[in-house]
Amino acid sequence: MPIQTTVSVLPEAPTEALTDSALLAVPYDSGLNPQVELPVPVAALLAHYEAKGEAGEIVEVPVTRGDAVGRVLLYGVGDASPRAVRKAAATLTRRAKGKAALTVVLPSCDAAVFAEAALLAAYTFKIGNQGTEPVGALTLVGADEQAVRRGERVAQAVALARDLTNTPSSTKNPAWLAEQAAQPGLEVKVWEEEQLRADGFGGILAVGQGSVHPPRLIQLSYTPEGTSEGTPEGADRHVVLVGKGITFDSGGLSLKPTDNMKTQKTDMAGGAVVIAVMGALAAMGSRVRVTGLIAAAENMPSGTAQRPSDVITHYGGTTVEVTNTDAEGRLVLADALAYADAVLDPDAMIDIATLTGAISVALGRNIGAVYASDDELADELIAAGADSDDRLWRMPLIEDYRPALDSPIADMQNADLGGRYGAGSITAALFLREFTGKRPWAHLDIAGVGRSTVDEGTLSKGATGFGVRVLLEWLTRS
Ligand code: BES
Ligand code: MN
Ligand code: ZN
Repeated sequence: MPIQTTVSVLPEAPTEALTDSALLAVPYDSGLNPQVELPVPVAALLAHYEAKGEAGEIVEVPVTRGDAVGRVLLYGVGDASPRAVRKAAATLTRRAKGKAALTVVLPSCDAAVFAEAALLAAYTFKIGNQGTEPVGALTLVGADEQAVRRGERVAQAVALARDLTNTPSSTKNPAWLAEQAAQPGLEVKVWEEEQLRADGFGGILAVGQGSVHPPRLIQLSYTPEGTSEGTPEGADRHVVLVGKGITFDSGGLSLKPTDNMKTQKTDMAGGAVVIAVMGALAAMGSRVRVTGLIAAAENMPSGTAQRPSDVITHYGGTTVEVTNTDAEGRLVLADALAYADAVLDPDAMIDIATLTGAISVALGRNIGAVYASDDELADELIAAGADSDDRLWRMPLIEDYRPALDSPIADMQNADLGGRYGAGSITAALFLREFTGKRPWAHLDIAGVGRSTVDEGTLSKGATGFGVRVLLEWLTRS
């Protein structure tokens, strides 16, 4: 469900009475001075509670206004950096959970960052009525309205990606995902099984063939509108985004053990990010032409499933020996990348996928991996990631490990049999690279960051929507 909290902007702090369900939040600086005059000895109170002015610190004080007694949340903002502002905003929203309204006097900061973080902290996913409601209405005092709307759009896009990813696989299959992908302002094309077969998408078909829910390739196209001066600058650039859309990854006949399988409804997180980003482009005024591809399949074991040792033929003719049916993400992505390279003529392509368990060993749960065949693209993505808080770390495409993918009988094999080379995330990236032609290409392995085990800050337990913020930032920054 989209984030329920509404956001509005006020030029000055309201003077109506505070109540128990309507909180006012006022920032204080590192000198412990509040930014709004309050009828309480603020400095003494902050000293009493040993406040230091750090982001995430909140001191709750009763305040009288007229005859009414309400509560004010005094909050620290640290160095007021975007990182600190995110932390302060998320902590405040979490403190106001279950309240009707929270009015926040902003420190001097980017209001987009504040609004986005506050709303993400209010995100919840539930089926049924249990749990606490997020704060009902958020009012930001002294904020730039346009910035607030931008932050809100980004947060709602992240929420959409989280919703799709949190949805149980009993509901989401490839056809369902294709229905969700259709959004206003986008052209949609969906390949069903027969078209996939006719056009030679052997990887997507092979991965999907064990399931009763047939696979789909989903294409979303966004074209920026021309202005009265003609084509806007940069609008002739074409970017292709490719998302892994495995709606459940059981491993197939190379079946996953119980513990590893239980999180695998989230194996379409990359596809969800592509859907959410595509849906936000028009409202955010992207001047780049963007095509989104979601390679959707359910990876199941059955009498019709592909077998370890089968040889498949990808879009464009590359043959692959499937040595492990659990290395299925690269098989569906390979088809989509090869198609993008052959047909869509992009200036750059970026794929995003919960591709390997190995990447969470390497980078953990907070930083996503970026591989790239192009240094400039990698640098731009890392910068956009730092600014948007979807932090990325560049990983190497180590040529020495390429033999891991050699097959004695086909062009390649999809998994390093015997694990001679290790580096599971790197060899997966090397596999994908084979399908990117000579295009500038980047690959985001989000298996570590796609899901959160904690409910804190801007993260909620479950899907994170990681990738939405960095891609929107990269596609819409001037
Ligand atoms: N979907 C998994 C990767 C994954 C693991 C995502 C944990 C999220 C959390 C992927 O399809 C997979 O199974 N990868 C294998 C590759 C191996 C068989 C070469 C892996 O990482 O073990
Ligand atoms: Mn798998
Ligand atoms: Zn998978």
